[in-house]
Amino acid sequence: MPKIIGVISFKGGVSKTTTAVHVAAHLSARGKTVAVDGDDRNRSLMNWASGESLPFEVMSMMEAFNSKGVEYLVVDVRGGLPDVELFDLAKACDLLLIPANPEVMSLDGMRRTFDVLRDEEERRGKPWQAKVATVLTMVRPGRKLEQAKAALGALGIPVLEHTVRASEAFKDASSMGVLVRDVKTNSLAHECWNDYGAVVAESLRLVGEKQ
Ligand SMILES: Nc1ncnc2c1ncn2[C@@H]1O[C@H](COP(=O)(O)OP(=O)(O)OP(=O)(O)O)[C@@H](O)[C@H]1O
Ligand SMILES: [Mg+2]
Repeated sequence: MPKIIGVISFKGGVSKTTTAVHVAAHLSARGKTVAVDGDDRNRSLMNWASGESLPFEVMSMMEAFNSKGVEYLVVDVRGGLPDVELFDLAKACDLLLIPANPEVMSLDGMRRTFDVLRDEEERRGKPWQAKVATVLTMVRPGRKLEQAKAALGALGIPVLEHTVRASEAFKDASSMGVLVRDVKTNSLAHECWNDYGAVVAESLRLVGEKQ
């Protein structure tokens, strides 16, 4: 069975697709990785992959399950997913990553996602199969990051230690259909890529995978 990683949030525009693409790209260096575009309205992940320069395949959930030798399966979903679909994902995944920006409004959207999962877990009386963690993205220099981490800690919401910086390089990567490491016009592109490398390494430790 592949390790399944869902990238979720009720909130739109928080970097779900960008995170799914770069998590899948880093995982593909470890083993066969496929990504599923669960955003049937925007198809952003499929569009990103249409230039065929990503190191993993994008396919439907059915194709992914029928595909042989898949070690990692990354699922990108649309914002505002109905609760039942979120619960289905939480049942199937090993890890749920919730991207959030350290801005109050975004943290609210992330908190709602977390609360809905937690309430349902209590109602069911058994824990989700998936580990759940917030990943802070679009991080700018300044005090907002520490404030956000402190606010999440106070609410008992798990947050990855590693974060992803805000950079125009991510926008360029998506419009060019490439990974951020291949954006030659931005001098920080490689650091942006390494940010996701650290996020992936920490995520794998969370699900108990040896490095
Ligand atoms: N770290 C970042 N720094 C700067 N811009 C970013 C970063 N991550 C993503 N973006 C940009 O923010 C916008 C939203 O990102 P993305 O499409 O990944 O979010 P999403 O949560 O998948 O959105 P949606 O809810 O519409 O599916 C895009 O223009 C993307 O290029
Ligand atoms: Mg998206």
